[in-house]
Amino acid sequence: MNTRKLGTEGLEVSSVGLGCMGMSDFYGAHNDADSMATLSAAIDSGVTFWDTSDAYGPYTNEQLLGRYFKDNPGARNKVIVATKFGILRNTSGDFNGFDGRPEYLQQACDDSLKRLGVDHIDLYYQHRMDPAVPIEETVGAMAELVTQGKIRYLGLSEASANTLERASKVHPISALQSEYSLWSQHLEESVLPACKKLGIGFVSYSPLGRGFLTGAIKSRDDLEAGDWRLQNPRFSEENFQQNLVLVDRIKEMALEKQCTTAQLALAWILHQGADYVSIPGTRSPTRVQENAKAMEVTLTTEELSQIATNISTDLVFGQRYPEPMMGALEL
Ligand SMILES: NC(=O)c1ccc[n+]([C@@H]2O[C@H](COP(=O)([O-])OP(=O)(O)OC[C@H]3O[C@@H](n4cnc5c(N)ncnc54)[C@H](OP(=O)(O)O)[C@@H]3O)[C@@H](O)[C@H]2O)c1
Repeated sequence: MNTRKLGTEGLEVSSVGLGCMGMSDFYGAHNDADSMATLSAAIDSGVTFWDTSDAYGPYTNEQLLGRYFKDNPGARNKVIVATKFGILRNTSGDFNGFDGRPEYLQQACDDSLKRLGVDHIDLYYQHRMDPAVPIEETVGAMAELVTQGKIRYLGLSEASANTLERASKVHPISALQSEYSLWSQHLEESVLPACKKLGIGFVSYSPLGRGFLTGAIKSRDDLEAGDWRLQNPRFSEENFQQNLVLVDRIKEMALEKQCTTAQLALAWILHQGADYVSIPGTRSPTRVQENAKAMEVTLTTEELSQIATNISTDLVFGQRYPEPMMGALEL
C-alpha cells in the first residue's frame, strides 16, 4: 500500500503524498521553519510525493521547496516532485486567467525548474485547462518538454473525461489531479471511468476537505482573517454548521476503527482504486506522520459500504469553490 503506480509510463509514488500549498498560501499564517521540519518528517515517514505549483504564492511555494533541496543534499533524489503551470496570478496574488499556449509553458517550465533548483520535474500538470487553446496543442508542447528531458511524466488537473480522451491521443497522461474526498464525490460518473479506460492514475487533492473533514476546524472563528476558506461556500456562515453533521459521522466511524478522522478520510480514498493516491496538505510534522499512517489502515468491504451509507451527498452543503472559480473547472 505504500507506493502505487500511476499511469502506464512507469511513474511510482507514495500512496499518501504531501500537498505543500498551505506552506505558502491560502490557509493562514505559515512559517518556513515549520514547513522545512514538515518536509523532513515527510521523507522520514515515506511521504515522498510532493505537490506544488507556480501559482502557490505565487512562486514562493516552489522557492520554498528549492531552498529545502539546497539545504538538504540528497533529499531531491528521494522525492517525486510534482508541479503545475497554467493558472496566472499577479504579484498581489490576484487571479489573472489561464495560459496553455506552447510558448508560455516552455517558459513556465524553465522558471519552475529554476525556482525548484532541480534539473527535471517528475510530474508536470496543466493546472487548469485554457479554453482558448486546444488541449492537443498544450499536451503536444508538454510532450516536447519530455523529449527535452525537462519533465518526466504528464498530468492534468480538473480535466473532463473528454479532455482526458483527447489529451491521451497526443501523449500518455500519467495522472489526473482533481478534488476528491468524502464530501466531493462528483467524479464517479464520467471522469474516474475515463481514467480507468485510458490508464490514467488518480491523485486526489484536498482529500481532507481543506481540513474540514478532520474535525479540527470546529467553527469559522478557528480560521484566521484572510484565510481563503472563509470565501469557500462549504465554509460559509450558512453551510458550516450543517456540514458538521458529516464530520460527526466520520469521527464516529474512525473511533470504531481506532484510527483518526483524517486517517479514515485518506484510507477511504486509497480503497477506491489501486491507482488512487492522495496528497493531504499540512504544515505540521506530527500531522504528516499521522496522515502517513493512513497507508496502514485497511477497510473491509463492510466498512466501505457503511461509509457509503453514512456519507451521502445530500449531507454536503455548498459548492467546492466560489462561483467565479467554479467556471474554471471542467465539471
Ligand atoms: N490541483 C488543484 O487545483 C489543487 C487545488 C487545491 C489543492 N491542491 C493540492 O492539494 C494539496 C492538498 O489539498 P489542501 O491542502 O487544499 O486540502 P486538504 O489536504 O484536504 O487539507 C489541508 C488542511 O488540513 C489540515 N490538516 C492536515 N492534516 C491534518 C490532520 N491530520 N488533522 C487535522 N488537520 C489536518 C491542514 O492544516 P495544517 O497545515 O495546519 O496541518 C490544512 O489546513 C494542496 O496542498 C495542493 O498541493 C491542488
